[in-house]
Amino acid sequence: MPPAPPPVTSEGRISRFELRWAIIACCAISAIMVALIYAALVEHMAPPSSVETVDPQTLHLSAEFTEANLGTSVDADGQITSRIVATQFTFDPRCILLPANRPVTLRFASPDVIHGILVTGTNVNTMIVPGYVSQVHTIFTHPGDLLMPCHEFCGLGHSEMIATVRVVPPEDFKPDGQGRARCDAR
Ligand code: CUA
Repeated sequence: MPPAPPPVTSEGRISRFELRWAIIACCAISAIMVALIYAALVEHMAPPSSVETVDPQTLHLSAEFTEANLGTSVDADGQITSRIVATQFTFDPRCILLPANRPVTLRFASPDVIHGILVTGTNVNTMIVPGYVSQVHTIFTHPGDLLMPCHEFCGLGHSEMIATVRVVPPEDFKPDGQGRARCDAR
């Protein structure tokens, strides 16, 4: 009787199979590392928070996040910035007005605990950590009311914590003499 043929999964075959997968994994990891380094060094992309500091205790008393500064404002050079304070358990203001199809900057700060926001139907999403300013640059492409809920559990009223981003056609975006634009002033 002739000897039985060697089993199909011989050791050499398994080794080649493993080597092939090791090469594929190394290529994938290398590609991800190159993409990360490119994004960081060339595109200057970094996490949107933990960059700029602000004193949470005096947030509302001086400088950028005082009551009068909150909401949307247009600088002399045409830059559109919205400043929002996220606090237990509301946003101030609860509605921000912005134009469609123009670059806008959203700046958030928290005086109390960690909050987070996302704007539905967009890729806007950031944590809001006390002590830091969270900044997001974006362009809203479609007019409409977008919901902006808090997405980080911040206490008993977390589920009540929701704001509106009102995106209007650029021709309907009319800031007042001080460059301010509000939802209720339309
Ligand atoms: Cu703020 Cu949840």
